[in-house]
Amino acid sequence: MGVQCGLCVQYFMMKTLRLILITLFAAVACSNDAEIMPCPEIIPYPADVEMNAGTFDVAGAKVVLSGGLDSLSKAYLTLFADHISAVAGSEGGRGRIIFRQDASMSSACPGPLGKEENYSIEITPRKITVRAAGLNGFVYAVQTLKQLMPSQVYGTEQVSGVCWEVPCCTIEDSPRFGYRGMLLDVARYFYNVEEVKKFIDMMEIHKMNVFHWHLTDDQGWRVEIKKYPELTEVGSRRRHTLVGHHHTSNEYDGKPYGEGMWYSQEQIRDVVAYAASKGITVIPEIDLPGHMMGALATYPELGCTGGPYEVMGKWGISDDVLCAGKDVVYTFLEDVLAEICDMFPSQYIHIGGDECPKVRWEACPDCQKKIKELGLADDEKHAAEHYLQSHVMRHMSDFLAQRGRKIIGWDEMLQGELAPGATVMAWRKTENGHKAARLGHDVIMATRPYLYLDRYQSEDKAAEPLAITGYLPVDMVWSFDPYKSEKEDAELLTDEQKSHVIGIQASLWTEYISTYDHLEYMLYPRMDAVSEVQWCCPENKDWDRFRKGLDRMRVVYDIMGYNYATHIWGE
Ligand code: ACM
Ligand code: ZN
Repeated sequence: MGVQCGLCVQYFMMKTLRLILITLFAAVACSNDAEIMPCPEIIPYPADVEMNAGTFDVAGAKVVLSGGLDSLSKAYLTLFADHISAVAGSEGGRGRIIFRQDASMSSACPGPLGKEENYSIEITPRKITVRAAGLNGFVYAVQTLKQLMPSQVYGTEQVSGVCWEVPCCTIEDSPRFGYRGMLLDVARYFYNVEEVKKFIDMMEIHKMNVFHWHLTDDQGWRVEIKKYPELTEVGSRRRHTLVGHHHTSNEYDGKPYGEGMWYSQEQIRDVVAYAASKGITVIPEIDLPGHMMGALATYPELGCTGGPYEVMGKWGISDDVLCAGKDVVYTFLEDVLAEICDMFPSQYIHIGGDECPKVRWEACPDCQKKIKELGLADDEKHAAEHYLQSHVMRHMSDFLAQRGRKIIGWDEMLQGELAPGATVMAWRKTENGHKAARLGHDVIMATRPYLYLDRYQSEDKAAEPLAITGYLPVDMVWSFDPYKSEKEDAELLTDEQKSHVIGIQASLWTEYISTYDHLEYMLYPRMDAVSEVQWCCPENKDWDRFRKGLDRMRVVYDIMGYNYATHIWGE
């Protein structure tokens, strides 16, 4: 009883504090309309901001779409216009918010995803003019505009007493990196379409443009493949799930998990279209040839030993992987990837390649026969089995290339030979990314610990929900430098090599995250820090400004009803 009362008082005080903060942020914009106001601490901070005197009143302003907008931009901006009139009112204003599609805003080098991302905003007392060459620029302009407005813009209805003036200013903006991703692992724990869309909504707010959907793993296969319907019937379910940490526990919960926990092709297409409407590309990952227990439990003939296999209830790495010596495996993978290509229009398809132990291949007559046939041998750098894995990756890369696609794979692809044109996702070390860049391959930095949001957020681990390992506070994420190697004597990258670092991605692996509420707790506010690493040039990064911006984002999270971690606020 006493504990409950204590919690109630605490809850009431937190609510009151949040209301005061929300009111405070609403009031700031009204205080000083003839002077040059300070720029709000937008996250991620724009490349160039110039503040001017005066304010523009958003309440009742008319939104004008001009310049022959493409259909996606028009749809996005129409939703924005409706939203603004719903939250700020549609009556009485004299100003105009003009969105102009302008080919002169096109980037000379549109980046790895071919998106038009530049935008400009000019705010004068009478009008706001937004220019962009395409959807992505408009999405980012809208996100910046929303951060210039009172935080009630993140609500769904009009709140009385809010001043809707925004400061006059000129903003010219474009991102530092063309690939700005977030990975969500739905194999360990499943997140439904509604939750996935919510995740994508937060990516939109943070100006991210790639949703990396980790769809298959040892603990569950979660995407419908029509040619192999048993994959989702059998491969999505596990008998039980580990309780406690996988390094120390052998205890299971005794509860089956995963029935019906997979996406139909129709649902996948719905998510892909939803993301596309916000300028976000969905890149699927079919993790191969390791992390395949979902498929092996379904079709034991795909393994070296023939099984039997079981969808794993424990986290970690399985010694059982796809057999690289059997033709049936290559046929299976081609069939799966053909359907994946039908569902996902993205140029990139992620084919994993991480954590594939070689013990089964070393003992497997089929794998050894393949090694002989291919003339593979150990050398001073790698074992023949590593080159066998390179052969698998190369085979799938060639298959996808015939369909106009390119592969991304984890940095284990460097053990052996990289497939031509493969993009390397560096997760174990930035130095692995640098190695790939020196070899002339594109690289996405998804490096742990900095960008692994499954880490603890406090050094007081006992006070936190169980997490995989480590300690990753917001400032550590924010400090990530993709050009800094862990190796003290590493050669610096040349400018040409740096140009191969096409992006930054954070990952949310879900071994220890079974609810969406917990997932949000792990994401926010570290995702804000990720967005600054992705978007801002180093000269534009300022911790004090960012830290103040987090206070603003906290109000946004409250209004949107998102859960978040509060360590940065000393709570
Ligand atoms: C990974 O974390 N195994 C890519
Ligand atoms: Zn084998």
